[in-house]
Amino acid sequence: MNRNVRSLLHAIVLLTGVALVLLNFGYFHYGYGTSKTSLIPHGLPSYFSPHNHTPSNPSPNFELTAGNPHFLAQTASYIRAISNSSDTTFPRLECPFSPTDRYTYMNKPSESAAPKPKYFFALDLHNCVKLLPRLIGSIVETIRFLGPRNCALSVVEGRSVDGTFEVLKELRNELEGLGIRYIFQSSDINPHAKGTDRIEALAELRNLAIKDILENSALYAQDTTIIFSNDIAVCMEDILELIHQRNAQSADMTCAMDWTYVGENPTFYDVWIARGMTGDSFFNIPPDGSWDYAWNLFWNDAKAQSHWQSFKPFQVFSCWNGITAFTAKPIMEGKIRFRKHLEKECYQGEPKLFAKDMWWNGYGKIAVVPSVNVEYSDEAAKKIKTLKGYTWSHVANEEDNMKIKWELDPPSRVKCIPGGYETQKWVAWNEGLP
Ligand SMILES: *[C@@H]1O[C@H](CO)[C@@H](O)[C@H](O)[C@H]1NC(C)=O
Repeated sequence: MNRNVRSLLHAIVLLTGVALVLLNFGYFHYGYGTSKTSLIPHGLPSYFSPHNHTPSNPSPNFELTAGNPHFLAQTASYIRAISNSSDTTFPRLECPFSPTDRYTYMNKPSESAAPKPKYFFALDLHNCVKLLPRLIGSIVETIRFLGPRNCALSVVEGRSVDGTFEVLKELRNELEGLGIRYIFQSSDINPHAKGTDRIEALAELRNLAIKDILENSALYAQDTTIIFSNDIAVCMEDILELIHQRNAQSADMTCAMDWTYVGENPTFYDVWIARGMTGDSFFNIPPDGSWDYAWNLFWNDAKAQSHWQSFKPFQVFSCWNGITAFTAKPIMEGKIRFRKHLEKECYQGEPKLFAKDMWWNGYGKIAVVPSVNVEYSDEAAKKIKTLKGYTWSHVANEEDNMKIKWELDPPSRVKCIPGGYETQKWVAWNEGLP
């Protein structure tokens, strides 16, 4: 290829990459697929019966604006699609899977006399109404499977002008009718506002989403799992497998693999946050910022690479990767919050700092579950599911040697990418902590 064309392509890929990193919080435009829908799980336990539906504790009421009448008039079809996984009003990623015996153990009520929620779903969402039938639909499907009384759903909507707010607001009756504790807030916090520290704003939004756990921890089971999702197209099986692997591996945190189609081929997306047990990023980004090596995942980490290639979970230093399931314990105990970097810490994203704080507090069993692959639109998620396989296809072929041999110590040094890639550097994993 002509050198100049190559450099131009470099520049474009670099700019796109930087833009993606900068826009790491729900600023995609969503495409549409033409898919049908997933199956409703059958054989649900009796406590899903349509009677007896009031949540054990009333959902908190936050002050909300009335909403835009134009969008309010359109919410019914979204709510119907969200609550009925067979609804075909909206084309969405196909999820042709019903949970198997593999996951039924997860829907037992928690052991206390008055069962408390033990699965806490948290999301920060902005302008993503087209994604709601698939994203919230899969979460509601999962909650039905796990038992509505075992679950709470917390959504923080922010500054949407596409009807996202209205759908999520109007969803409340439907969810409470199912017996789900639904915590819906709307926030003006704008990570992109002038003079705002973007990471501090994102951390604040994430803390808002888990606020109910912080403030009403007595309402939740001690072994609560938080499932925190980005604005992705996801299937119920993806969510269940992340929770399952957290249980099966005794992991503190499990993450999917998230992808983005910058060009024709998908690129691992969360490269700014994720670090392997080498302390390095999942693919090499040379100082010139080129993403030429994005195809070569775990290039210097044979163990992670072989596990990734054979769809077996593997330990990492940090991940988020579109959707993650983690223990609520250090949060309930007041040890960890989402935060920005400290003064003596390299500038980095709040999910990476979260993982660092997890290690610091003894919760270093953090793993990627590479059988779970997600993307940020229905259309591209179809492509990635076709390419990487649905979660169930890997689960069905699972081998015996799935158990992670946990390393107890983090990598001594971890790569930090503070701003441009030319400034990336290795720092002590616990840099800046007291
Ligand atoms: C769900 O949607 C399908 C397809 O439109 C429809 O046949 C079915 O009756 C709906 N189920 C409920 C409970 O509304």
